Amino acid sequence: MAFTISYFFLAYLLFPFQCSSSLSSLNKGSSLSVEKYAEDVIVSSNGMFSAGFFQVGENAFSFGIWFTELQPHTHNPATIVWIANRDNPVNGKLSKLSLLNTGNILLLDAGQNNIWSSNTESNTPLELYLKEDGNLVLRELQGTTILWQSYDFPTNTLLPNQPLTRYTKLGSSRSQSNHSSGFYKLFFDDNNIIRLEYDGPDVSSTYWPPPWLLSWQAGRFNYNSSRIALLDSHGKFISSDNYIFSTYDYGTVMQRRLTMDSDGNIRVYSRKSLLENWYVSWQVIYDTCTIHGICGENSTCSYHPKKGKKCSCLQGYKVKNHNDWSYGCEPMFDFTCNRSHSTFLKLPGFELYGYDINFVENSTYKNCETLCLQDCNCKGFQHTFERDQGIFKCYTKLNLLNGRYSPSFRGTTYLRLPKGNNFTKQESMSVEDRVCLVQIHKDYAKKPINNTVKFFLWLSIAIGCFELVCFFVVFVFLFKTTKKTTSDQNSYHHTLLGFRRYSYSELKVATKNFSNEIGKGGGGVVYLGTLPDQRQAAIKRLNEANQGEGEFLAEVSIIGRLNHMNLIEMWGYCVEGKHRILVYEYMKNDSLAENLSSKTNMLDWSKRYDIALGTARVLAYLHEECLEWILHCDIKPQNILLDSNYQPKLADFGLSKLRNRNNVNSNSEFSMIRGTRGYMAPEWVFNLPITSKVDVYSYGIVLLEMITGKRSTMMNIEGVDGEVAYNGRLVTWVREKKRSACWVEEIMDPSIVINCDLIKMEILAKVALECVEEDRDIRPNMSQVVEMLESNQRLVE
Ligand SMILES: *[C@@H]1O[C@H](CO)[C@@H](O)[C@H](O)[C@H]1NC(C)=O
Ligand SMILES: *[C@@H]1O[C@H](CO)[C@@H](O)[C@H](O)[C@H]1NC(C)=O
Ligand SMILES: *[C@@H]1O[C@H](CO)[C@@H](O)[C@H](O)[C@H]1NC(C)=O
Ligand SMILES: *[C@@H]1O[C@H](CO)[C@@H](O)[C@H](O)[C@H]1NC(C)=O
Ligand SMILES: *[C@@H]1O[C@H](CO)[C@@H](O)[C@H](O)[C@H]1NC(C)=O
Ligand SMILES: *[C@@H]1O[C@H](CO)[C@@H](O)[C@H](O)[C@H]1NC(C)=O
Repeated sequence: MAFTISYFFLAYLLFPFQCSSSLSSLNKGSSLSVEKYAEDVIVSSNGMFSAGFFQVGENAFSFGIWFTELQPHTHNPATIVWIANRDNPVNGKLSKLSLLNTGNILLLDAGQNNIWSSNTESNTPLELYLKEDGNLVLRELQGTTILWQSYDFPTNTLLPNQPLTRYTKLGSSRSQSNHSSGFYKLFFDDNNIIRLEYDGPDVSSTYWPPPWLLSWQAGRFNYNSSRIALLDSHGKFISSDNYIFSTYDYGTVMQRRLTMDSDGNIRVYSRKSLLENWYVSWQVIYDTCTIHGICGENSTCSYHPKKGKKCSCLQGYKVKNHNDWSYGCEPMFDFTCNRSHSTFLKLPGFELYGYDINFVENSTYKNCETLCLQDCNCKGFQHTFERDQGIFKCYTKLNLLNGRYSPSFRGTTYLRLPKGNNFTKQESMSVEDRVCLVQIHKDYAKKPINNTVKFFLWLSIAIGCFELVCFFVVFVFLFKTTKKTTSDQNSYHHTLLGFRRYSYSELKVATKNFSNEIGKGGGGVVYLGTLPDQRQAAIKRLNEANQGEGEFLAEVSIIGRLNHMNLIEMWGYCVEGKHRILVYEYMKNDSLAENLSSKTNMLDWSKRYDIALGTARVLAYLHEECLEWILHCDIKPQNILLDSNYQPKLADFGLSKLRNRNNVNSNSEFSMIRGTRGYMAPEWVFNLPITSKVDVYSYGIVLLEMITGKRSTMMNIEGVDGEVAYNGRLVTWVREKKRSACWVEEIMDPSIVINCDLIKMEILAKVALECVEEDRDIRPNMSQVVEMLESNQRLVE
């Protein structure tokens, strides 16, 4: 209620001019004319939404609903939420939308063609009006019967409290400027799961939830056939298949909309006032390269958090349409079936999803190649080593679709090309800049002075004491609503994304009243516990109990969605009163720290190299593949746990406060120094901006410890006395050693010298030294580290 009043009030202040010229509703026998598109606009009573004609092309108009613009209605409003005739625009002359006496709403083109209609019928008096929530409704004037409403026929946008049901779906626009139907859909499938599908001109496939996961593995529940999903006004989305999320700005932001964007991502946009720009407060896909069809056929996609997504053609292919990558690339050669004319180009770390002709387990490279050559339709193959099973898997490809480079992909793709051609790599082209992500702490955008003058002019003329009283009433209401929100949050009772919410008493029992402490640090104490289902878990009780519940849940939902083989899995959480507890998988094997210091020395040089690579991969994933820019901020051997195969699993992530990538240069959120002495980058001490390079530094120190077997905090070097602000003694020592010819042997942990591959160890040591450069700009980023370690691994093997 309070919001309605405040909306109304604000709108009233901002659109005085519109109230006079626009309509509040349409009655039987009347119509809206395209030629008078500026005046023939139906405005909701709070001024927030407008419905009418807008321009979509030269002399082409559509009828739709949009967020009322601050500037009076221009030809094409910026934020359209619904369109009647997205694929059939009408002529800019003579076209009109009429509410006929029969009760039907009819959109007629200049040529009197029926372009769109509501297919309704009624003898009683009717009105077509726009509700305050943006729903265009045809209702009986007497009584409450609703004959038709735009909420039942969404285009690409859901407004808060507008349900997505079994009968409705969201379909993307072709592009940001072209509102006709695009290739992406959000809908409930026949198994009651809410999904994203790419429905391209030639092929179609679903890409979210990840198609290789069973619905329960993706945290979905496919037995609830009510098939309903809804974004509420606080920013919480709940779907009947148990898919739930909260936007990062959970709470009472003024306006929100959930949009199926033309790039295949679902985003929630918010803005705090009409005067501000929309910002993205949530999006479903982190790495936009995982969206199918994004760069078209025969192309590769690479995603970089700073540079955005890039499409480029595979070698031997050229782009079909420079303005629209969804058309993909076409071959510059004639495809030959003669096997002696084919050759294969090796593309390490390049993955193609789907369109396999054949799949063979435990296949040698030669067999896989032969399999592809035997088939005229085979355009290439993927040869992937499965570490767990110790075998290679072979997938031959019918189409080269959904190709992408990914730091976490361990296989290699071989592209079939005709022999004797000299194809160079195509230049990459950026499709779009990365979407600006959450800017929760945005400054209030100042209104241009011009508007302010207008505003006050109008204010002095129009407002009497009455409205000033209203103003205070609104404030009182606002105040009350804010208070109410907090209690609303307490009733938040849903499992987030498949992992469980535990009650405090459950965890109290599981940990035997928090008795078995197994670790400390990173803002809390970790206890060993046995969950009700008998699994052993590491249960971390956070100190920061003052974090709001909504904020905590938003963060947990992000951490819970992280998924990488080198990351400790999170199973659940508890939020009750002041308690904030996280439940993780428990690793029986010790951490890297314990393994390094143990006398039995189970870590030979090749295991250490693998640990280095795995840790680099997971950091690259956290820094570069996730939606939110996640810094670990406490990389140390104690936080690198080892599984039974000595594969690293990073622990204690996500607590370092998920950070907005846009604010790369502000460390205001990091007022408190985080991390552990000995591993901390100089930035912390010198109060420089904190970026992902702090993790790179700590990683470098861990590498040096693995190579040398020395603890950075225990180094004792002549001439250096007492504590320095940050601990660079191990670094200094290695740098000094590097002057001699046999430096690698000299620094190496004596217990691993036997049979050691010196070339590999030297690579590791060089990477480590690059990572611990004092100047953060010289340090490589984690995907470069992965690249260096991977390419050298291939070189040596
Ligand atoms: C929008 O895209 C559709 C489908 O690709 C195309 O037919 C139409 O011409 C485009 N409209 C404009 C204005 O570019
Ligand atoms: C099915 O989903 C609806 C909407 O989310 C919910 O109200 C209902 O309780 C669910 N039913 C079951 C059996 O889970
Ligand atoms: C992609 O390349 C294949 C040959 O490798 C070709 O048959 C196909 O038409 C190409 N796709 C497009 C969209 O041009
Ligand atoms: C394939 O090419 C080789 C060499 O050009 C030729 O000798 C052979 O006959 C060809 N095979 C077929 C089936 O066309
Ligand atoms: C894979 O194949 C090789 C030779 O064909 C065989 O020796 C090996 O046992 C197989 N491995 C597995 C896991 O099946
Ligand atoms: C391939 O092209 C590059 C540059 O375009 C040239 O330097 C190279 O000699 C060519 N190789 C062959 C085998 O034609």
